[in-house]
Amino acid sequence: MVITTFYLPTRIIFGPGSFTRLGTEASRLGSKAILVTGRSSMRRTGLLDRAVSDLEDKGVEALIYDRVEPNPRASTVDEGARLAREAGVDLVIGLGGGSAMDAAKGITLASTGTYPIWHYIETEVEVKGQLPKLILVPTVAASGSEANNGAVITNWGTHEKCVLSSLYTYPKVSIVDPELTLTLPAKPTLQGGVDIFCHLVEPYITADNPAPLTDGIVEATLRLVVDYLPRALAKLEDINARTQLSWASTIACSAFTSLGGGDGALTLHGIEHSLSGYYDIAHGDGLAALLPAWMRYTYPLRKERFGALGRNVFGQPDGIKATENWLEKIGMKLKLRELGIEPERIREMADNAVKTAPWLKSHPKRLDAKVIAQIYSDSC
Ligand code: NZQ
Ligand code: ZN
Repeated sequence: MVITTFYLPTRIIFGPGSFTRLGTEASRLGSKAILVTGRSSMRRTGLLDRAVSDLEDKGVEALIYDRVEPNPRASTVDEGARLAREAGVDLVIGLGGGSAMDAAKGITLASTGTYPIWHYIETEVEVKGQLPKLILVPTVAASGSEANNGAVITNWGTHEKCVLSSLYTYPKVSIVDPELTLTLPAKPTLQGGVDIFCHLVEPYITADNPAPLTDGIVEATLRLVVDYLPRALAKLEDINARTQLSWASTIACSAFTSLGGGDGALTLHGIEHSLSGYYDIAHGDGLAALLPAWMRYTYPLRKERFGALGRNVFGQPDGIKATENWLEKIGMKLKLRELGIEPERIREMADNAVKTAPWLKSHPKRLDAKVIAQIYSDSC
Protein backbone atom coordinates (compact mmCIF):
# COMPACT_ATOMS: atom_id res chain seq x y z
CA MET A 1 0.00 0.00 0.00
CA VAL A 2 1.34 3.47 -0.87
CA ILE A 3 1.16 6.44 1.55
CA THR A 4 -1.89 8.58 0.69
CA THR A 5 -3.23 11.95 1.90
CA PHE A 6 -6.99 12.38 2.35
CA TYR A 7 -7.70 16.13 2.01
CA LEU A 8 -11.17 17.72 1.83
CA PRO A 9 -11.32 21.04 3.77
CA THR A 10 -15.07 21.44 3.22
CA ARG A 11 -17.84 21.19 5.81
CA ILE A 12 -20.60 19.25 4.04
CA ILE A 13 -24.09 19.72 5.50
CA PHE A 14 -26.34 17.07 3.97
CA GLY A 15 -30.06 16.29 4.13
CA PRO A 16 -33.59 17.24 3.09
CA GLY A 17 -34.32 20.73 4.49
CA SER A 18 -30.66 21.68 5.01
CA PHE A 19 -31.06 24.60 2.55
CA THR A 20 -32.61 26.54 5.46
CA ARG A 21 -29.10 26.65 6.98
CA LEU A 22 -27.71 28.86 4.19
CA GLY A 23 -28.22 32.24 5.87
CA THR A 24 -26.75 31.08 9.18
CA GLU A 25 -23.72 29.45 7.57
CA ALA A 26 -23.12 32.49 5.34
CA SER A 27 -23.41 34.98 8.22
CA ARG A 28 -20.66 33.08 10.02
CA LEU A 29 -18.30 33.58 7.05
CA GLY A 30 -19.13 37.07 5.76
CA SER A 31 -21.61 39.91 5.28
CA LYS A 32 -21.72 40.66 1.52
CA ALA A 33 -22.25 37.87 -1.02
CA ILE A 34 -22.42 37.43 -4.77
CA LEU A 35 -25.02 34.74 -5.50
CA VAL A 36 -23.95 32.90 -8.65
CA THR A 37 -26.66 30.95 -10.50
CA GLY A 38 -27.73 29.73 -13.93
CA ARG A 39 -29.90 31.92 -16.14
CA SER A 40 -33.43 30.78 -15.32
CA SER A 41 -34.10 27.68 -13.19
CA MET A 42 -33.28 29.18 -9.79
CA ARG A 43 -35.66 32.08 -10.35
CA ARG A 44 -38.31 29.80 -11.90
CA THR A 45 -38.22 27.32 -9.01
CA GLY A 46 -38.26 30.05 -6.35
CA LEU A 47 -34.95 28.85 -4.91
CA LEU A 48 -33.28 32.18 -5.69
CA ASP A 49 -35.90 34.18 -3.73
CA ARG A 50 -35.63 31.75 -0.82
CA ALA A 51 -31.84 32.14 -0.76
CA VAL A 52 -31.94 35.96 -0.93
CA SER A 53 -34.54 36.34 1.81
CA ASP A 54 -32.76 33.85 4.10
CA LEU A 55 -29.42 35.62 3.59
CA GLU A 56 -30.93 39.06 4.23
CA ASP A 57 -32.74 37.74 7.32
CA LYS A 58 -29.32 36.78 8.69
CA GLY A 59 -27.78 40.14 7.77
CA VAL A 60 -25.95 39.06 4.61
CA GLU A 61 -26.34 41.38 1.62
CA ALA A 62 -26.83 39.44 -1.64
CA LEU A 63 -25.81 40.61 -5.12
CA ILE A 64 -27.36 38.33 -7.77
CA TYR A 65 -25.27 37.11 -10.75
CA ASP A 66 -27.68 34.91 -12.73
CA ARG A 67 -25.84 34.72 -16.06
CA VAL A 68 -24.05 31.37 -15.96
CA GLU A 69 -24.74 29.22 -19.01
CA PRO A 70 -24.41 25.42 -19.03
CA ASN A 71 -20.73 24.61 -19.78
CA PRO A 72 -19.68 27.96 -18.28
CA ARG A 73 -17.50 30.30 -20.37
CA ALA A 74 -14.34 31.96 -19.11
CA SER A 75 -15.83 35.30 -20.20
CA THR A 76 -18.88 34.72 -17.95
CA VAL A 77 -16.58 33.93 -15.02
CA ASP A 78 -14.47 37.07 -15.60
CA GLU A 79 -17.60 39.23 -15.77
CA GLY A 80 -18.82 37.79 -12.45
CA ALA A 81 -15.37 38.31 -10.93
CA ARG A 82 -15.41 41.98 -11.99
CA LEU A 83 -18.84 42.52 -10.38
CA ALA A 84 -17.68 40.73 -7.20
CA ARG A 85 -14.57 42.90 -7.01
CA GLU A 86 -16.42 46.17 -7.62
CA ALA A 87 -19.02 45.26 -4.98
CA GLY A 88 -16.29 44.26 -2.50
CA VAL A 89 -17.93 40.94 -1.61
CA ASP A 90 -16.43 38.68 1.06
CA LEU A 91 -18.57 35.67 0.07
CA VAL A 92 -19.25 33.80 -3.17
CA ILE A 93 -22.27 31.47 -3.12
CA GLY A 94 -22.79 29.04 -6.02
CA LEU A 95 -26.45 27.91 -6.23
CA GLY A 96 -27.30 25.53 -9.07
CA GLY A 97 -25.81 22.64 -11.01
CA GLY A 98 -22.15 22.03 -11.80
CA SER A 99 -22.07 24.97 -14.22
CA ALA A 100 -23.08 27.54 -11.57
CA MET A 101 -20.87 25.94 -8.89
CA ASP A 102 -17.82 25.81 -11.19
CA ALA A 103 -18.38 29.42 -12.23
CA ALA A 104 -18.55 30.36 -8.53
CA LYS A 105 -15.16 28.68 -7.99
CA GLY A 106 -13.67 30.61 -10.91
CA ILE A 107 -15.20 33.90 -9.71
CA THR A 108 -13.69 33.33 -6.26
CA LEU A 109 -10.22 32.92 -7.77
CA ALA A 110 -10.44 35.74 -10.33
CA SER A 111 -12.17 38.19 -7.98
CA THR A 112 -8.79 39.67 -6.96
CA GLY A 113 -8.49 41.06 -10.50
CA THR A 114 -4.84 40.04 -10.73
CA TYR A 115 -5.45 37.79 -13.77
CA PRO A 116 -8.39 36.70 -15.97
CA ILE A 117 -9.54 33.16 -15.10
CA TRP A 118 -7.98 31.54 -18.19
CA HIS A 119 -4.55 32.59 -16.91
CA TYR A 120 -5.05 30.33 -13.88
CA ILE A 121 -5.87 27.44 -16.23
CA GLU A 122 -2.92 27.94 -18.53
CA THR A 123 -0.26 28.64 -15.91
CA GLU A 124 0.61 27.82 -12.29
CA VAL A 125 0.25 31.27 -10.81
CA GLU A 126 0.46 32.35 -7.20
CA VAL A 127 -2.85 33.65 -5.89
CA LYS A 128 -2.40 37.16 -4.52
CA GLY A 129 -4.83 39.17 -2.43
CA GLN A 130 -7.65 38.30 -0.03
CA LEU A 131 -10.16 35.86 -1.55
CA PRO A 132 -13.85 35.75 -0.63
CA LYS A 133 -15.08 32.60 1.12
CA LEU A 134 -16.91 30.04 -1.06
CA ILE A 135 -20.19 28.28 -0.28
CA LEU A 136 -21.77 25.79 -2.72
CA VAL A 137 -25.38 24.60 -2.89
CA PRO A 138 -25.95 21.94 -5.57
CA THR A 139 -29.40 21.64 -7.18
CA VAL A 140 -28.42 18.81 -9.59
CA ALA A 141 -27.03 15.37 -8.64
CA ALA A 142 -24.25 15.16 -11.22
CA SER A 143 -20.91 16.98 -11.11
CA GLY A 144 -20.04 16.60 -7.42
CA SER A 145 -18.43 20.05 -7.64
CA GLU A 146 -19.57 20.67 -4.04
CA ALA A 147 -16.98 18.23 -2.70
CA ASN A 148 -13.87 18.97 -4.77
CA ASN A 149 -11.69 21.84 -5.94
CA GLY A 150 -12.18 21.26 -9.67
CA ALA A 151 -13.97 23.68 -12.02
CA VAL A 152 -14.57 22.95 -15.69
CA ILE A 153 -14.45 26.17 -17.73
CA THR A 154 -14.71 26.68 -21.48
CA ASN A 155 -12.83 29.11 -23.70
CA TRP A 156 -15.52 29.29 -26.36
CA GLY A 157 -13.22 31.00 -28.86
CA THR A 158 -10.80 28.05 -28.94
CA HIS A 159 -13.33 25.38 -27.89
CA GLU A 160 -10.97 24.41 -25.10
CA LYS A 161 -12.89 23.02 -22.12
CA CYS A 162 -10.39 22.71 -19.29
CA VAL A 163 -10.27 21.74 -15.63
CA LEU A 164 -9.08 24.36 -13.17
CA SER A 165 -8.07 23.11 -9.72
CA SER A 166 -6.50 25.13 -6.94
CA LEU A 167 -6.20 24.95 -3.17
CA TYR A 168 -8.35 28.09 -3.21
CA THR A 169 -11.29 26.52 -5.01
CA TYR A 170 -12.37 24.13 -2.28
CA PRO A 171 -15.69 25.36 -0.84
CA LYS A 172 -15.59 26.24 2.86
CA VAL A 173 -19.14 24.94 3.28
CA SER A 174 -21.40 22.90 0.98
CA ILE A 175 -25.09 22.51 1.70
CA VAL A 176 -26.44 19.43 -0.10
CA ASP A 177 -30.25 19.40 0.12
CA PRO A 178 -31.86 16.68 -2.07
CA GLU A 179 -35.17 18.61 -1.93
CA LEU A 180 -33.57 21.20 -4.25
CA THR A 181 -33.29 18.53 -6.98
CA LEU A 182 -36.99 17.64 -6.93
CA THR A 183 -37.76 20.20 -9.65
CA LEU A 184 -35.16 18.78 -12.03
CA PRO A 185 -36.82 17.31 -15.15
CA ALA A 186 -36.08 13.79 -16.43
CA LYS A 187 -33.43 14.69 -19.02
CA PRO A 188 -30.95 16.58 -16.74
CA THR A 189 -31.67 13.94 -14.04
CA LEU A 190 -30.56 11.25 -16.51
CA GLN A 191 -27.53 13.20 -17.73
CA GLY A 192 -26.56 13.75 -14.09
CA GLY A 193 -26.93 10.05 -13.25
CA VAL A 194 -24.66 9.01 -16.12
CA ASP A 195 -22.12 11.62 -15.04
CA ILE A 196 -22.03 10.18 -11.51
CA PHE A 197 -21.73 6.63 -12.92
CA CYS A 198 -18.72 7.67 -15.00
CA HIS A 199 -17.01 9.55 -12.12
CA LEU A 200 -17.02 6.19 -10.35
CA VAL A 201 -16.43 3.65 -13.14
CA GLU A 202 -13.55 5.45 -14.92
CA PRO A 203 -11.06 5.44 -11.99
CA TYR A 204 -12.36 1.98 -10.95
CA ILE A 205 -11.45 0.52 -14.36
CA THR A 206 -8.24 2.48 -15.02
CA ALA A 207 -6.62 2.07 -11.56
CA ASP A 208 -3.32 0.16 -11.58
CA ASN A 209 -3.41 -0.61 -7.85
CA PRO A 210 -7.05 -0.90 -6.77
CA ALA A 211 -7.63 -1.24 -3.00
CA PRO A 212 -10.35 -3.38 -1.37
CA LEU A 213 -11.78 -0.52 0.73
CA THR A 214 -12.09 1.99 -2.10
CA ASP A 215 -13.45 -0.76 -4.37
CA GLY A 216 -16.14 -1.36 -1.76
CA ILE A 217 -17.04 2.36 -1.58
CA VAL A 218 -17.11 2.71 -5.39
CA GLU A 219 -19.14 -0.47 -6.01
CA ALA A 220 -21.68 0.49 -3.32
CA THR A 221 -22.07 3.99 -4.81
CA LEU A 222 -22.39 2.55 -8.35
CA ARG A 223 -25.18 0.26 -7.13
CA LEU A 224 -26.95 3.32 -5.64
CA VAL A 225 -26.93 5.03 -9.06
CA VAL A 226 -27.92 1.88 -10.97
CA ASP A 227 -30.83 1.21 -8.55
CA TYR A 228 -32.10 4.71 -7.76
CA LEU A 229 -31.79 6.56 -11.09
CA PRO A 230 -34.63 4.50 -12.64
CA ARG A 231 -36.70 5.16 -9.47
CA ALA A 232 -36.16 8.92 -9.71
CA LEU A 233 -37.17 8.78 -13.37
CA ALA A 234 -40.29 6.79 -12.56
CA LYS A 235 -41.27 9.38 -9.92
CA LEU A 236 -39.35 12.67 -10.13
CA GLU A 237 -40.62 13.77 -6.70
CA ASP A 238 -39.37 10.57 -4.97
CA ILE A 239 -37.32 12.21 -2.20
CA ASN A 240 -35.68 8.93 -1.14
CA ALA A 241 -34.38 8.27 -4.67
CA ARG A 242 -33.23 11.90 -4.94
CA THR A 243 -31.48 11.64 -1.58
CA GLN A 244 -29.51 8.53 -2.64
CA LEU A 245 -28.52 10.21 -5.92
CA SER A 246 -27.44 13.42 -4.14
CA TRP A 247 -25.15 11.48 -1.80
CA ALA A 248 -23.77 9.44 -4.71
CA SER A 249 -23.06 12.69 -6.60
CA THR A 250 -21.23 14.28 -3.64
CA ILE A 251 -19.16 11.16 -3.03
CA ALA A 252 -18.39 10.19 -6.63
CA CYS A 253 -16.11 13.02 -7.75
CA SER A 254 -14.35 13.61 -4.45
CA ALA A 255 -11.52 12.22 -2.32
CA PHE A 256 -14.03 9.82 -0.72
CA THR A 257 -13.73 7.37 -3.62
CA SER A 258 -9.94 7.27 -3.57
CA LEU A 259 -9.38 8.06 0.09
CA GLY A 260 -6.61 10.25 -1.11
CA GLY A 261 -4.86 7.39 -2.88
CA GLY A 262 -6.04 5.52 -5.94
CA ASP A 263 -4.30 5.95 -9.27
CA GLY A 264 -7.34 5.72 -11.52
CA ALA A 265 -8.16 8.64 -13.85
CA LEU A 266 -11.15 10.25 -15.54
CA THR A 267 -9.92 9.50 -19.05
CA LEU A 268 -13.36 9.24 -20.65
CA HIS A 269 -14.01 12.71 -19.24
CA GLY A 270 -10.90 14.02 -20.95
CA ILE A 271 -12.31 12.78 -24.25
CA GLU A 272 -15.85 14.05 -23.60
CA HIS A 273 -14.89 17.60 -22.59
CA SER A 274 -13.70 18.24 -26.15
CA LEU A 275 -17.15 17.32 -27.45
CA SER A 276 -19.03 19.69 -25.13
CA GLY A 277 -16.28 22.28 -25.76
CA TYR A 278 -17.06 22.21 -29.49
CA TYR A 279 -20.81 21.50 -29.55
CA ASP A 280 -22.01 22.80 -26.15
CA ILE A 281 -23.83 19.50 -25.60
CA ALA A 282 -24.81 18.30 -22.13
CA HIS A 283 -21.79 16.65 -20.48
CA GLY A 284 -23.83 13.58 -19.47
CA ASP A 285 -25.05 13.00 -23.05
CA GLY A 286 -21.49 13.08 -24.38
CA LEU A 287 -20.37 10.58 -21.73
CA ALA A 288 -23.28 8.22 -22.44
CA ALA A 289 -22.50 8.20 -26.17
CA LEU A 290 -18.76 7.54 -25.69
CA LEU A 291 -18.85 5.08 -22.74
CA PRO A 292 -19.38 1.80 -24.69
CA ALA A 293 -16.53 2.47 -27.18
CA TRP A 294 -14.20 3.62 -24.32
CA MET A 295 -14.99 0.40 -22.43
CA ARG A 296 -14.43 -1.84 -25.47
CA TYR A 297 -11.14 -0.12 -26.25
CA THR A 298 -9.93 -0.53 -22.66
CA TYR A 299 -11.25 -4.09 -22.11
CA PRO A 300 -8.17 -6.10 -23.28
CA LEU A 301 -6.06 -4.58 -20.48
CA ARG A 302 -8.78 -4.60 -17.79
CA LYS A 303 -10.69 -7.89 -18.26
CA GLU A 304 -10.71 -8.65 -14.49
CA ARG A 305 -11.98 -5.15 -13.60
CA PHE A 306 -14.85 -5.33 -16.07
CA GLY A 307 -15.70 -8.77 -14.65
CA ALA A 308 -15.74 -7.30 -11.11
CA LEU A 309 -17.93 -4.41 -12.32
CA GLY A 310 -20.43 -6.91 -13.78
CA ARG A 311 -20.49 -9.21 -10.73
CA ASN A 312 -20.38 -6.60 -7.92
CA VAL A 313 -22.57 -3.87 -9.42
CA PHE A 314 -24.98 -5.62 -11.79
CA GLY A 315 -24.78 -9.26 -10.61
CA GLN A 316 -23.85 -10.30 -14.14
CA PRO A 317 -20.58 -11.72 -15.54
CA ASP A 318 -20.04 -9.15 -18.36
CA GLY A 319 -19.59 -5.58 -17.04
CA ILE A 320 -19.64 -3.95 -20.49
CA LYS A 321 -22.83 -5.71 -21.65
CA ALA A 322 -24.49 -4.96 -18.30
CA THR A 323 -23.57 -1.27 -18.57
CA GLU A 324 -24.87 -1.05 -22.15
CA ASN A 325 -28.14 -2.75 -21.13
CA TRP A 326 -28.50 -0.31 -18.23
CA LEU A 327 -27.89 2.67 -20.53
CA GLU A 328 -30.53 1.30 -22.93
CA LYS A 329 -32.97 0.67 -20.07
CA ILE A 330 -32.76 4.30 -18.91
CA GLY A 331 -32.93 5.66 -22.48
CA MET A 332 -29.32 6.83 -22.62
CA LYS A 333 -28.00 4.63 -25.41
CA LEU A 334 -26.93 7.59 -27.57
CA LYS A 335 -24.96 8.16 -30.77
CA LEU A 336 -22.79 11.24 -31.43
CA ARG A 337 -24.60 11.99 -34.68
CA GLU A 338 -27.87 12.28 -32.65
CA LEU A 339 -26.08 14.95 -30.61
CA GLY A 340 -25.19 16.89 -33.77
CA ILE A 341 -21.50 15.97 -33.86
CA GLU A 342 -20.09 16.29 -37.40
CA PRO A 343 -17.71 13.44 -38.39
CA GLU A 344 -15.52 15.89 -40.35
CA ARG A 345 -14.47 17.64 -37.10
CA ILE A 346 -13.49 14.43 -35.31
CA ARG A 347 -9.73 14.73 -35.86
CA GLU A 348 -9.70 18.39 -34.76
CA MET A 349 -11.58 17.47 -31.57
CA ALA A 350 -9.23 14.55 -30.89
CA ASP A 351 -6.23 16.89 -31.12
CA ASN A 352 -8.06 19.31 -28.82
CA ALA A 353 -8.69 16.52 -26.29
CA VAL A 354 -5.00 15.58 -26.17
CA LYS A 355 -4.14 19.26 -25.60
CA THR A 356 -6.74 20.00 -22.93
CA ALA A 357 -6.58 16.69 -20.98
CA PRO A 358 -2.93 15.84 -20.16
CA TRP A 359 -4.10 13.11 -17.77
CA LEU A 360 -5.10 10.95 -20.78
CA LYS A 361 -1.51 9.67 -20.64
CA SER A 362 -2.39 7.73 -17.47
CA HIS A 363 -4.92 5.54 -19.30
CA PRO A 364 -3.77 1.88 -19.18
CA LYS A 365 -3.76 1.75 -23.01
CA ARG A 366 -2.43 4.40 -25.42
CA LEU A 367 -4.94 7.25 -25.82
CA ASP A 368 -3.48 9.52 -28.47
CA ALA A 369 -5.35 11.60 -31.07
CA LYS A 370 -5.57 8.68 -33.53
CA VAL A 371 -7.15 6.38 -30.94
CA ILE A 372 -9.48 9.11 -29.62
CA ALA A 373 -10.64 9.82 -33.18
CA GLN A 374 -11.41 6.10 -33.53
CA ILE A 375 -13.43 6.12 -30.28
CA TYR A 376 -15.38 9.16 -31.61
CA SER A 377 -16.01 7.36 -34.94
CA ASP A 378 -17.10 4.15 -33.17
CA SER A 379 -19.55 6.27 -31.16
CA CYS A 380 -21.01 8.04 -34.16
O1 NZQ B 1 -28.99 27.05 -16.23
P1 NZQ B 1 -30.22 27.05 -15.38
O2 NZQ B 1 -31.26 27.98 -15.78
O3 NZQ B 1 -29.88 27.12 -13.90
O4 NZQ B 1 -30.88 25.57 -15.58
C1 NZQ B 1 -30.11 24.41 -15.31
C2 NZQ B 1 -29.50 23.86 -16.59
O5 NZQ B 1 -30.28 24.18 -17.71
C3 NZQ B 1 -31.07 23.30 -14.89
N1 NZQ B 1 -31.26 23.18 -13.44
C4 NZQ B 1 -30.32 23.18 -12.47
N2 NZQ B 1 -30.87 22.92 -11.25
C5 NZQ B 1 -32.23 22.78 -11.48
C6 NZQ B 1 -32.49 22.94 -12.87
N3 NZQ B 1 -33.72 22.87 -13.41
C7 NZQ B 1 -34.75 22.60 -12.54
N4 NZQ B 1 -34.58 22.41 -11.19
C8 NZQ B 1 -33.35 22.48 -10.63
N5 NZQ B 1 -33.18 22.25 -9.31
O6 NZQ B 1 -30.38 22.09 -15.29
C9 NZQ B 1 -29.55 22.35 -16.41
C10 NZQ B 1 -28.18 21.70 -16.23
O7 NZQ B 1 -27.45 22.41 -15.26
P2 NZQ B 1 -25.85 22.27 -15.27
O8 NZQ B 1 -25.34 23.00 -14.10
O9 NZQ B 1 -25.28 22.65 -16.59
O10 NZQ B 1 -25.69 20.68 -15.13
P3 NZQ B 1 -24.63 19.78 -14.29
O11 NZQ B 1 -24.89 19.86 -12.85
O12 NZQ B 1 -24.65 18.46 -14.95
O13 NZQ B 1 -23.22 20.50 -14.54
C11 NZQ B 1 -22.59 20.35 -15.79
C12 NZQ B 1 -21.28 21.13 -15.73
O14 NZQ B 1 -20.43 20.57 -14.71
C13 NZQ B 1 -19.16 20.25 -15.28
C14 NZQ B 1 -19.52 19.87 -16.70
O15 NZQ B 1 -18.40 19.85 -17.55
C15 NZQ B 1 -20.51 20.96 -17.05
O16 NZQ B 1 -19.83 22.14 -17.41
N6 NZQ B 1 -18.50 19.25 -14.43
C16 NZQ B 1 -17.91 19.67 -13.28
C17 NZQ B 1 -17.20 18.80 -12.47
C18 NZQ B 1 -16.52 19.24 -11.24
N7 NZQ B 1 -16.50 20.49 -10.91
O17 NZQ B 1 -15.96 18.37 -10.53
C19 NZQ B 1 -17.01 17.39 -12.81
C20 NZQ B 1 -17.96 16.91 -13.87
O18 NZQ B 1 -17.32 15.82 -14.47
C21 NZQ B 1 -18.32 17.92 -14.95
O19 NZQ B 1 -17.31 17.96 -15.92
ZN1 ZN C 1 -18.45 14.48 -15.21
